[in-house]
Amino acid sequence: MKKEFKRVLITAALPYANGYIHLGHLAGAYLPADIYARYQRLKKRDVLFICGSDEHGVAITVSAEREKTTPQAIIDRYHPANKEAFEQFGMSFDNYSRTSLPLHHETTREFFADFYKRNIVIEKKEQQLYCERDAMFLADRYVEGTCPKCKSIQARGDQCESCGSWLSQIELIDPKCKICGSRPVIRETTHLYFPLGRYQQRLEKYIRERHERDGWKENVLRYNESWFKEGLQDRAVTRDLTWGVPVPVKGFETKVVYVWFDAVLGYISSTKEWALKNKTPEAWREYWQRDDTKYVAFIGKDNVVFHCIVFPAMLMAWNDGHPDEQYVLPENVPANEFLNFEGQKFSKSRGWGIDVRDFLRFFPADTLRYALAVNLPEKSDSDFYLRDFQARVNNELADILGNFINRTLAFIEKNFNGKVPPRGDLNDLDIQILEYMKQAPTRVGNYYEQYRFREGLAEAMNLARVANKYFNDSEPWKTAKADKARCATTLNISTQVVRALAILMEPVIPHTSHRIWSLLNLQTTIYDDGWDSAGEERVPVNHLVKSPEILISKIEDSQIKQILNFIESGSETSTLTTIAMQTHTITIDDFKKIDLRVGKVLSAERLPKSEKLLKVLVDLGVEQRQLIAGIAQYYTPDQLVGKSVVVVANLKPTKLMGHESRGMLLAATDHDGTLALVTLERDITPGSSVK
Ligand code: MF3
Ligand code: ZN
Repeated sequence: MKKEFKRVLITAALPYANGYIHLGHLAGAYLPADIYARYQRLKKRDVLFICGSDEHGVAITVSAEREKTTPQAIIDRYHPANKEAFEQFGMSFDNYSRTSLPLHHETTREFFADFYKRNIVIEKKEQQLYCERDAMFLADRYVEGTCPKCKSIQARGDQCESCGSWLSQIELIDPKCKICGSRPVIRETTHLYFPLGRYQQRLEKYIRERHERDGWKENVLRYNESWFKEGLQDRAVTRDLTWGVPVPVKGFETKVVYVWFDAVLGYISSTKEWALKNKTPEAWREYWQRDDTKYVAFIGKDNVVFHCIVFPAMLMAWNDGHPDEQYVLPENVPANEFLNFEGQKFSKSRGWGIDVRDFLRFFPADTLRYALAVNLPEKSDSDFYLRDFQARVNNELADILGNFINRTLAFIEKNFNGKVPPRGDLNDLDIQILEYMKQAPTRVGNYYEQYRFREGLAEAMNLARVANKYFNDSEPWKTAKADKARCATTLNISTQVVRALAILMEPVIPHTSHRIWSLLNLQTTIYDDGWDSAGEERVPVNHLVKSPEILISKIEDSQIKQILNFIESGSETSTLTTIAMQTHTITIDDFKKIDLRVGKVLSAERLPKSEKLLKVLVDLGVEQRQLIAGIAQYYTPDQLVGKSVVVVANLKPTKLMGHESRGMLLAATDHDGTLALVTLERDITPGSSVK
């Protein structure tokens, strides 16, 4: 059943250039794609890895409106920023293009005009939502409402993020114009339609066959089945918008091509751009138009319908009319589920999550790659917690992998003048670990071939675990004196394992792997030697290795605190403090250090020359206290008098604008910065303690 392929074409979903790439994006599509691409290159296959920015559609125009600028300014800000963030993260794209390029417009026009000429896309009048106040048809994200399928609110005109449905906008329950909030009316407009239904049978067969050949993921099959069960419908592929690829059909010049129709073709135009840069303008066809290319499309779960149904249908439609230009269809579409951040969904609008470039200001890319890879949302949603991240890096990367490499090189430096000693007779321990190492490339590789990256990585790390145990059990620090030949054998074998680990870990932590490789001081590169060589003993006897360096620095609590502070300062969202709650637990004794008391406000007055401060006198039972509170914008002195509030009674006294303040009032701040005092449900004797 397995097919032999000559080359591997890998694409990762083109991210919208309307915001910064965050950790959720990486876990969904990009890191798995990069691990796969690096692994395939190490297998010495002919690999092309393609990506770019998706720069059309309402995602971009809505962002432009929100930020009060033009769509062009939006894409010009985010495209370079995301390209750079990907580079920092170590994405090994062969090309990162953008869909605003003329080359891409041309490619889209070619497909579209061809489909029109061959009567595949056809004109239809249909009901669409129209906002009378804004005098426009509400394409895609310009309208939101309740999803008719899963009933979640905030489904968009064309797509529900919650259940992944591809919607027709008039199905939306309670639609609202995204611009003005009013309820749109239904009006007739003319669009060009792609007859998806016509391809249903072929698509079902296609997915069945590819699944048999390459094992598609359960989650992906499930999504597809549900769409097939409902029956595929004709879909409008033009929009009443001005931002996008103008429709190359007479009478439709004022409309643009639907963003998903052009975006998926972005993979092809990005490959064309790569070929041009490479001065082999026709080479893109090698990857797209040869039957022996294995094409794998990495995406997040919300993109499944577009990659398993829409894009293949478009390619089938093209192939039907062009016997000499037969595009390959995806051999597999390994879609991941979503990653949550500290227990909640990433949300740009709520400011929840962290961008890649911000994260990488605090920690090296490989630590992030590792922590994400062990926990990829491959079968179901998974969570990223900073505390986990710290533990993974410290207890696994540093203590297991880093430690083994360090102790091996340090031992050779100290006991063998930095030269790899000879291997003598083998004992059982030696034989076992050499056997383990020999099989490791196949074991890890089998998982990677099946897009099971978590398990593949776990298997690679197992070699490091086994190696540490081998080192401990062999006790070279004892044999160094008692039996030098034995000691030499242990260290020779350990060095071979260090080399194996450098290769096997390269797809996940490339920066670290290449550093390990340079410590080994070998003449070849990791890529010269390749994946399969990881099982072999290739470090020669007497070979001079370098002194160990710290490869992975442990992450201190203070660093985690720093990034938390950063996250909190960057956003007004009060929910961000929940991170602090989860990450920095305190004991009950810590809490008891704060002396909270009920206070009754006796009097309050504005401080002259201050807009924010009130001087408040509270009754604390045993005494009257003066404190200065920054609440003048939210409370008048009159409103305060008589209220029972909560006072931090043992706060160190301080002076504010020359007035003494001995304590603090508890208050909560809302998203918009407004504030409310913590008051008591009923009157409690002043001075009572609060806990
Ligand atoms: N821009 C889309 C998203 O972020 C993905 C587009 S993938 C492509 O969800 F194939 F259509 F380009
Ligand atoms: Zn839904």
